[in-house]
Amino acid sequence: MRSERLRVAGTEGVGPYVLLRLRRSRLQPGTPGQFFMLEAPGRPLPRPFSLCVAPPGELGFLVEPLGPGTSAIAALGVGDEIRVTGPLGRGFDLDVEHPLLVGGGIGVAPFPYLSECLGAPPAILGFRTAFHAEAAALVPNATVVLDPVLVTNALPTDPGDVLACGPEPMLDALARHVPGAQLAREAPMACGYGACYGCVVEREGRYVRLCVEGPVVREAVAVG
Ligand code: FES
Repeated sequence: MRSERLRVAGTEGVGPYVLLRLRRSRLQPGTPGQFFMLEAPGRPLPRPFSLCVAPPGELGFLVEPLGPGTSAIAALGVGDEIRVTGPLGRGFDLDVEHPLLVGGGIGVAPFPYLSECLGAPPAILGFRTAFHAEAAALVPNATVVLDPVLVTNALPTDPGDVLACGPEPMLDALARHVPGAQLAREAPMACGYGACYGCVVEREGRYVRLCVEGPVVREAVAVG
């Protein structure tokens, strides 16, 4: 794990989201689905973000400015600095034969980098509105569904190897439809490396720290 202050190379609006591009320095992009802790200046707590894009020399994160912390990060401008720690946690297993990316909302964040690593497999992405769906432009080969259609309704009969990220109800539904799917779960994270136990969730009858055993988990048994 490495921690450095990175400089902002650029920002782009993507629908309601902001793509924050940072100069990479010596930080490595890691495996898609791993995450980084971003600590905005003046904000007490770092926030976890999965890597969105990894062009040469840069690390890019998709930020949804919802609260004070994420809004402060989304408001950074070219030349500003931010402390970044990572990559952390367990990412997606890329040893898959027929990958299908399934995601919703800000959960599409890790898919551009994941898609690049897997050779642009098909993706099914769900969004609340057409404005949010502008983020689908970051993911090649994507089929978009809008509310009230669910991504689980758009799955093919044989979905193959599902790699998913999105809201918990969507992931729970996918766990029922596709046992063994790789699911990038979310939890509040304060430290990001196993020390605070703030990210403990119950999975299949046992408690796991998502920052260490996840955020990507496989759930072979139906949940919910
Ligand atoms: Fe601290 Fe997981 S975020 S233990």
